[in-house]
Order: sequence, then C-alpha cells, then structure tokens
Amino acid sequence: MGYSEVYKSWQDDPEAFWMDQARAIDWVKPPSRALNADNAPLYEWFTDAQVNACYNAVDRHVKNGRGDQTAIIYDSPITGKKGTTSFAELQVQTASLAGALRDQGIVSGDRVIIYMPMVPEALVAMLACARIGAVHSVVFGGFAANELAVRIDDATPKAIIAASCGVEPGRVVAYKPLLDGAIDMATHKPDFTIILQRTEGPCDLIAGRDHDWHDVQAGVVPADCVPVSGDHPAYILYTSGTTGAPKGVVRPTAGHLVALNWTMKSIYNVDPGDVFWAASDVGWVVGHSYICYGPLIAGNTTVVFEGKPVGTPDAGTFWRVIEEHNVRSFFTAPTAFRAIKREDPKGELIKNYDISCLRALYLAGERADPDTIEWAQKIMGVPVYDHWWQTETGYTIAGNPAGIEALPVKIGSPTVAMPGYDVQILDDAGHPVAAGELGAIAIKLPLPPGTLPTLWNAEERFKKSYLNTFPGYYETGDAGMIDNDGYLYIMARTNDVINVAGHRLSTGAMEEVLAGHPDVAECAVIGVGDTLKGQLPLGFVCTNTGTAKSDADIQAECIKLVREKIGPVAAFKLITVVDRLPKTRSGKILRGTMVNIADSKPYKMPATIDDPAILDEIKAALQPMGYAKD
Ligand code: COA
Ligand code: AMP
Repeated sequence: MGYSEVYKSWQDDPEAFWMDQARAIDWVKPPSRALNADNAPLYEWFTDAQVNACYNAVDRHVKNGRGDQTAIIYDSPITGKKGTTSFAELQVQTASLAGALRDQGIVSGDRVIIYMPMVPEALVAMLACARIGAVHSVVFGGFAANELAVRIDDATPKAIIAASCGVEPGRVVAYKPLLDGAIDMATHKPDFTIILQRTEGPCDLIAGRDHDWHDVQAGVVPADCVPVSGDHPAYILYTSGTTGAPKGVVRPTAGHLVALNWTMKSIYNVDPGDVFWAASDVGWVVGHSYICYGPLIAGNTTVVFEGKPVGTPDAGTFWRVIEEHNVRSFFTAPTAFRAIKREDPKGELIKNYDISCLRALYLAGERADPDTIEWAQKIMGVPVYDHWWQTETGYTIAGNPAGIEALPVKIGSPTVAMPGYDVQILDDAGHPVAAGELGAIAIKLPLPPGTLPTLWNAEERFKKSYLNTFPGYYETGDAGMIDNDGYLYIMARTNDVINVAGHRLSTGAMEEVLAGHPDVAECAVIGVGDTLKGQLPLGFVCTNTGTAKSDADIQAECIKLVREKIGPVAAFKLITVVDRLPKTRSGKILRGTMVNIADSKPYKMPATIDDPAILDEIKAALQPMGYAKD
C-alpha cells in the first residue's frame, strides 16, 4: 500500500487502524477497543489495556533473542568516552535501578524528576521509572535552578535522579548546586535523590537525602515490570506556553508505545537491528521519543551523543558518528546543519568519511530553510525529509512517510499529514479556508494515540490552550497553509513562543524575569531572525525614571538575570533600553510590528497605534545592534 491507501485506511476506520498497529506491542492485557470518548472532547486510547513500557523497550527483545544486540551506543566527543550497552545489559541495569527506587519507596504513579546530561544512565533512569510505573519528568540540563524548582513544585516528585555534572564545550556544568538550589527554592521537597557521580565533576552528597547511583543499587533485588493501564502517564514533559509557567504535557503509556513503534518503520524507515540516531537531548521531546523510547521499542540501536555539531572537535563529528556506528536514519534540527554549513561551507570534512550506510536525514523542531535543506542534500547525497510535530503530539503530524512510500519532496514543506491527523487550515472564525490560503493550523479531534490527553494538574489550562479557540479541533499554535496537492507549509507561530536553535522558549517567561529587575519599569521580548539559530530573543526595557544605574549596567544585569532564572539555553544576549514601547490605544504592546521592524521587513502601521513616532524610536534603538536595516 502507498501513502494514500494507508491514509485512507486510517480515515475509513481510525479505530481499526490503531488496533491493527497495537498488535506490534506486547500487552499484559490487550485492549478491547482503541478510542475512549467517554469524556469528549478529552480523549484517551487503549484505556482498558494493561502494559509496561520498559518491557516493550527492553525485556521483550531479550526474550525474543536480541539480548546481545547493542541497544545503546554512547559516543561523547566532549569527554572522549565511548561505550555500548546490549539489550540484556540494559535489562539488568533498569531492573536494578528500578529495584533501588522501589526499595526507597517509589510506587506506580509516583513522580520522579530526572536531571541528567546525555549519558546512557539517563535512559536507564527513564526506563527504570517506566519499569515500576513511576512517572518520570526529565528536565533539560541547560535550564537554571529556578526552572527546575518550578517543575518540582508542579510535578511534586518523590525522588530526583541527577548527575553530578554536565559537560559543555570548554566548561563543566555542575548540576548539584543547581539541584540543591532548586530543592531549596521549591515548596515541595522530594524524599530523596540519586546522584550519578561523573569523573568530570563529582559532587558532595547530603547525608540522609542524596544516594550515590551505585551504592543505592548494591544488593537490591531486581524489579520486575509492573503492568499499568493504557492511559497511565508514562511521563510528564514541560514545554513553553504563552505564559511564564511551563505546561506539563502528559504522555499516555499505551498510545505512546503503539504510535512510536509505528513511526520507526513508516516514517524513519528502519527495521529492528538498524541503528537510528537522533542528535538531540533527553530533555526535549525528540530525546524522549527518538533517543529513548521509539528506537528501543522497535528493537533498533539508539545513539546517545554527548557533543555538538561543531567544535567537538570539528564540523565533521556528525559524519564520523554516522560512519563509525553504521547509522541508517539520522534526525536532528536544522540549526545543527546551519552550524556545520557555517564552519565548513564547501563540505570538505565529509569527504574524510564514508556515510554510505545512511539512507536519509530527518529535520524537525523548527522551520527548515531551503538553503540548509539543499546544502545538506548536496553534500550528503541522501534525501532530506523535513517533518513537523510538537512536544504535545510526541511524533510526526506531517512528514514524508519514507518507510511506506517516499513522496516527492517540496522544499519548504514538511510534506503531508500522517495517518491519525486530520490537519486543517482555519480562519479566525474557525472555518476551513481554501487551498493555498493562510490560516491557523488545527487538527480535527480526536488526536491519535500517544498525543497529550491533558496537561498535568491543569485540565482547564489544557482546554483553554488547545481546545477552546476552535471547538472540535486541537489548536497547534502554528499558522500556515495546505497547497492543492495536500502539502502543508508551516509559516509562523500564532503566539509568543519562539524557537531558538530548535529549543522552544516563551518570550512571556523572559518578560516576567525582566519585569522582576528593580530598575525596569516596562519591557517586551521579541524573537528576531538569526541565520544560525533561526530566532534569538531580543529584549526592550524601559527603565524607572531617576534610577542611579547606567543603561549599560541595567542591560548587563538583565542578561545575567535571564541566564540565572531561565538558563543559558535561553540564549538571551540582545537587549536595548528605550524610552517607551509601541502600544495600541488599549495598551497592548505591538510585538508583531516590532518583529517586522527588527527583521527589516515591511509592516503596516497598526491602525490602533497610540503614537506612530515610537516606531521610529524602536528602529533607531535596533539599528546599532545590526537590526532594522533600511
Ligand atoms: N547543559 C548546560 N548548558 C547547556 C546545555 C546543557 N545541556 N545545552 C546548552 N547549554 C548552554 C550552552 O553551553 C550555551 O551556553 P553559553 O551561552 O554559555 O555559550 C547556551 O546554553 C546556548 O546553547 P545552544 O543553544 O546549544 O547554543 P550553542 O551556541 O552552544 O550551539 C548549536 C549552537 C547550533 C551548535 C546548538 O544549538 C545545537 O547543536 N543545536 C542542535 C539542535 C538541537 O539539538 N535541538 C533540540 C531539539 S531537536
Ligand atoms: P517543540 O514542542 O519544542 O517540538 O516545538 C514545536 C514547534 O516547533 C512547532 O509548533 C513549530 O512551531 C516548530 N516546528 C517543529 N517542527 C517544525 C518544522 N518541521 N517546520 C516548522 N516549524 C516546526
């Protein structure tokens, strides 16, 4: 069957389609039906099933004769370390850590925060939680203590599993002070922590609260896989929303198993035993779905890469990893390729490697610009597939289903909707628009298995964020169009979320931090175009009259404050002091107009603007920074 037939078979009978895919999963009790619409417009899948995610990702492969196959390849050009873990070893490791968690009092449903860098133990920690039904919440290492504290208070974990440090090029990032600081700041206190000591930066442990990773496992009876119901949360992953408070996306266990397994062949075109590599981080959704769960569930070998596309040691690192580990399908963010292209525009380094094992490159996380796609295609000699999805969905909404049928690529489009997704473009009133017309991208409910059923402890926020604007649809927050051939184009965000180097960040959260500076009277943060990272945050601050500090000091303090409160990942380095901000007569800051001015794009004078002269002041403030060119 080609793509059209598969998509039609899903359209004709979505439940039968997913029940069919569910056969590839090992159930303790198989589902009797796929969709549960009892609480529509909130939907669940496979609710009456009993299943275990760790069993499907690890144990069943050992049982089926894949015990000696490599499950995880660890490659860390930053520390110079490499290693492999077989499925049999992974079973022993997850059962042991799960046993330790159980002995420390963790039971099914308890939350466990994981704050770890790109080491194989991060996957062991995730799978150990899944083994006993604990709900993990991985927090990205580039976030500051304050962001970790916010997540501790929202997820109320009984335990935190962390490493002593992460390693960034040129510096060791000590995690323990961040962890201690976050626990101090948070109202909720975890019962205990488990700390993986890394030789690059060991840390002190607090007696009675912190356990050493190895010591806590000494002599424990390995834990068996605990069956959970199909709708049991596998994990919570926080992502940026329109306000400062992050949203806890809930991932249901059974749907996630069924859907991710389906994607490994249908989209990424890998078979059991093939090596699949997603160069991302366990702290992001790509890391959850395609470094940990997806490849392991499908019996693939996954690569845990602790490095950067450039500088570790050079722009040839990706090619080395592909060649050395025989990678069949490779997934990363366009920004990584822009970084390589900038360092090695002619693609000289790739000539030193044989990457003939590679079948395709997959890009997601941000808009893939045509230049980058064409350059990657040219130097790598493989198809480049853009695909579009979100933390909320956990896997591809629109992509090129290369394992079913490789559709013609239209550069600038992530191709077509995948089975499970009825993607539509709506006008402001919620009516579908004609082909080729721009509008809000929405997905007809129900969303398919594995997508978020709700937000953690925030059902009203879930409805408000995603369901209320267009009744009967899920609002993606992206705007775009569908052409006459059904190809989708993602053009912009409809809210204040920006995308910096493939990282989703909230400008609202940064504004909250700036507003907290004692000398800042008012502020706005926008996303400006950047040739490397796609977008960068740029802050405008109006200072209090009569402040004794210089503008330069206030700017430096604001930059420091964002780094301390949100983290280095925010990449907040651009800031300017202005006398006033452009607003509508009702007081709404005209951020969209400011973005157009900064990016030197044409803009219409907003009819409701309070004082048009302010736009010239904004332009004058931006020009010395290299923006708002005439
Ligand atoms: N722990 C601690 N700090 C981290 C971190 C982590 N896990 N990850 C990033 N940081 C820090 C970086 O060291 C940097 O700090 P600095 O301001 O002191 O230099 C800052 O956060 C910004 O990091 P990053 O956005 O990664 O920028 P960069 O300049 O270091 O690298 C790229 C640029 C393009 C090479 C890099 O962004 C990249 O590899 N992107 C790949 C995209 C990706 O993985 N996306 C994930 C979603 S698919
Ligand atoms: P995240 O939840 O961090 O994965 O970010 C999801 C958002 O990133 C989407 O809503 C889009 O705004 C953007 N995005 C992801 N993939 C693509 C893509 N292929 N093209 C354009 N934008 C993308």
